[in-house]
Amino acid sequence: AAALRELLLSKIADVPDYPKPGVMFKDITPLLADPAAFGALTDALAGLCERHGADKVVGLEARGFILAAPVAVRAGLGFVPVRKAGKLPGTTLGQSYELEYGTAEIEMHADALAPGERVLVIDDVLATGGTADASLQLIRRAGAEVAGVAVLMELGFLAGRQRLEPGLKGAPLEALITV
Ligand code: PRP
Ligand code: MG
Repeated sequence: AAALRELLLSKIADVPDYPKPGVMFKDITPLLADPAAFGALTDALAGLCERHGADKVVGLEARGFILAAPVAVRAGLGFVPVRKAGKLPGTTLGQSYELEYGTAEIEMHADALAPGERVLVIDDVLATGGTADASLQLIRRAGAEVAGVAVLMELGFLAGRQRLEPGLKGAPLEALITV
């Protein structure tokens, strides 16, 4: 696990002052460009699907899609996209959430999950936890169960874990790297 963390960390670039002054952006594109690292990440996340008994994988637009889709294939599970509002053609459930400034909304197809299905949510980064928390509400409103949330990287200083805790209702939050 330590070796995996080192490999993943070595492929994430720190970009200062992006997208705003004072923000350190975590750029995963070097990791995506390295098939050994991307493969190891995919295997680790697919292992979490099995450990937590997931029946479906939810990916959060946009960077979560990149990580979650190969995990779903590797784990032999269906993939469900949670999209930013206005992008899905069918009947949707929507959930708005607070950003640092203003609000955002995400949507999921209302029939994407069967009642009782266990869902693992995958995203690249847990920052304030707002996006992930909104996705848990969508999953529960669809009648499905939360198997867990898995992220490549948790930004500990933003306390997303604390924000997410009520919505997890005891389900695990797995972070492969915490910074
Ligand atoms: C980023 C990141 C997570 C989210 C984490 O997505 O990929 O999804 O923010 O922040 P939070 O924990 O404070 O909600 P973003 O919407 O910025 O862009 P993306 O479409 O490139 O994934
Ligand atoms: Mg995102």
